[in-house]
Amino acid sequence: MRQKITVVGAGQVGATCAQRLAERDYADVVLVDIVEGLPQGKVLDMNQSGPIVGYEPNHTGAGDYEEASGSDIVIITSGSPRKPGMSRDDLLEVNKSIVGDVAGQIAEKAPDATVIVVTNPLDAMCHAAYDALGFPRQRVIGMAGILDSARFRTFIAWELGVSARDVTGFVLGGHGDTMVPVVSYTSVAGVPIRQLLEDERIEEIVQRTRDGGAEVGKLLQTGSAFYAPSAAVAEMVDSIVLDQKRILPCAALCQGEYDIDGLFVGVPVRLGHDGIEEILQIELTDEERSGLSHSADSVRELVDAMAKL
Ligand code: LAC
Repeated sequence: MRQKITVVGAGQVGATCAQRLAERDYADVVLVDIVEGLPQGKVLDMNQSGPIVGYEPNHTGAGDYEEASGSDIVIITSGSPRKPGMSRDDLLEVNKSIVGDVAGQIAEKAPDATVIVVTNPLDAMCHAAYDALGFPRQRVIGMAGILDSARFRTFIAWELGVSARDVTGFVLGGHGDTMVPVVSYTSVAGVPIRQLLEDERIEEIVQRTRDGGAEVGKLLQTGSAFYAPSAAVAEMVDSIVLDQKRILPCAALCQGEYDIDGLFVGVPVRLGHDGIEEILQIELTDEERSGLSHSADSVRELVDAMAKL
C-alpha cells in the first residue's frame, strides 16, 4: 500500500522535499502550510508534472491538518528563518512555538507517524517537537547529519578529483559551529583520508563543512540551502519507507549513548520501518569524543535557554 507522508511548511525546503518524495512514487504526499493558496498551488503544479516525470498525481496541498490524518511519516520544516536584527534566542522562541503547535496537531491527527524535524535550530527544535508529540524516541528524528556529511563528502571529492560516491564520511554532534566531522572514519573507496590528504588540508575542509550552511546563505542573501537539505530528508524517508536499515547520522534522543543523557544530538543510527532501530556506538578518537561532548554541551545550553522562554 502507498504510504502517506505529510510535509509541514511549503517554503523552499518543504516544497522541494515534497517534490523529491513525489518523484519516488511510493507515497501520497500532503503539503501543509498556513499561507493561503501556497501549498495548494505548489502541489497542483507538482501533480501536473506527474505525467511528464512519471509518477501518480496523487498529492494534496492543505491549509490545515485534516488531510494529514493517519500519516505514516511527517516532516516538519515550518519555522521562521533568522531575520536581520533577530537574536538566536528570538528565533528559538518563535520556532519553539511554531514547532510545538505543529507537533501538537500531528500528535492528534497522526499518532502513529514517524516524525522528521528539519526546522532550525535543529537540535533544540527536536526537543520542542518531542515534548509536544509525546512519541517514543524511535519516532522523533532530526535531519542534519546527512546534510553536513554530504557537504564534507563533496569538498573531499572536489579536493581529490574523485567521485563523490566513493567518499564515505559522516558528521556527528549538533547542527552548528561545534559539529564533529569524524575524520577517523572518513575514506575514499576504503582508503583512510589521512593517507590521501595532509592534516592541514583536512582541517580546512572540516572548517568549510562547519560553515557549510552559512556559505550557501551568504551567497543567496535571502534564504538558506534547500536542495541538499531536502535530499537528506528524502534519504531518511527512503530508509524508513523501504525498511532499508541504512546507517545514517541523524539527531536522536540520546539516553546514555556516548555519555550523553536526555539530549538530541547527531549520532549514527540504523533507520528502518520502525524509525530509529538502533543508535550505533562507535569507537571515536579522544579528540573526536571530546569534540562530541563539547558539541553536546552547546546543544544543552540552547535547550536550557529554550526551557526558560
Ligand atoms: C544549513 C542550515 C540552513 O545547514 O541549517 O543549510
